[in-house]
Amino acid sequence: MIDLEIPWVEKYRPNSFDEIVSQNLAIENLKELVSKGNMPHMIFAGPAGTGKTSTALIIAKHVIKKESYFSNVLELNASDTVRMDYVRSVIKNFVSQNLNLEKSALKLIILDEADNIPNQVQQALRRIIEKASLNVKFILMCNYINRIIDPIISRCAVFRFTNLSKDKVIERLRFISKKENLNIPQTQENAFYETLFFISGGDLRKAINTLQMSVALKLLKNLDTNEILKVSGFLDNSTLNELLKNIKSKNLISSRDTLETVENLDARNFLRQIVGRLNELDIKPGHLNKTLSYFGDVDYRISQGADERIQLMSLIGHLIKSSIKKKK
Ligand SMILES: Nc1ncnc2c1ncn2[C@@H]1O[C@H](COP(=O)(O)OP(=O)(O)OP(=O)(O)O)[C@@H](O)[C@H]1O
Ligand SMILES: [Mg+2]
Repeated sequence: MIDLEIPWVEKYRPNSFDEIVSQNLAIENLKELVSKGNMPHMIFAGPAGTGKTSTALIIAKHVIKKESYFSNVLELNASDTVRMDYVRSVIKNFVSQNLNLEKSALKLIILDEADNIPNQVQQALRRIIEKASLNVKFILMCNYINRIIDPIISRCAVFRFTNLSKDKVIERLRFISKKENLNIPQTQENAFYETLFFISGGDLRKAINTLQMSVALKLLKNLDTNEILKVSGFLDNSTLNELLKNIKSKNLISSRDTLETVENLDARNFLRQIVGRLNELDIKPGHLNKTLSYFGDVDYRISQGADERIQLMSLIGHLIKSSIKKKK
């Protein structure tokens, strides 16, 4: 019986440094610092699903005794910390209050999504970090370090987490599939894992979630990677091929018609898929840079809330204009 109750991302959250896949540089240095017991304040920066929170929790387990975990570890995320009064009261109190029993016992503040903390609140936080005594350590986590104010960055050791490579993602997926006794048709196995990796873009959380979803939706038996692409908000291969064909033959109307057949359109996934196949489009010499920067513009506009279909049509128009017409 396959257990779908616990999310696999939690069930397979690494419990020790050795279980953290990839991130070798950061992990080696962290191990060293933690074992020597002279931890600085730290920032873990990098994309989603690459092991930042997992690593912070492992460190907390290493440096804080089990019985004092709840009194000596404060785990917060941005929704707690966007409010100035919260930072001023809860964090400040936690930092300054010393349970008399063990005066020098280490206290840890784990602040997730620190890049979403407003600048003014970060200023207050900075003063708290400055004044904190030596036994109080902060671990801040963020996706975008440029949103953290410089005075905080300069008080912390920064560890960068990177997207996981294809090999590493697939290795972990294979490990989980084995533990869960999944029946993946052997001839399709490679294509299946490659698809999961493509969908994940190096975000292991997404890869594991997609694996679990494929099982929950019973997609493994008659394994069809197109089905998995579709439920994950990507174009299936035949639709993608048709769209590329229409773009190559410079047919805007039929490109639009193809796009309209897509039910579960996720614009940013779409951008990734088209960029991945750009070499098939015969972009005119000298137009490639401009085309790539157009992708960047469309991505930005969508992130700012512009209408997705209009943006994608404008991109398709641009691609048609920039590609060489094939002779019939
Ligand atoms: N490097 C890794 N090694 C092993 N498992 C990982 C790794 N990165 C992510 N995972 C898996 O993905 C899940 C989510 O990872 P984690 O919470 O550490 O990501 P994160 O970097 O904090 O992401 P976010 O920026 O979204 O908070 C983990 O529970 C684990 O199953
Ligand atoms: Mg996290």
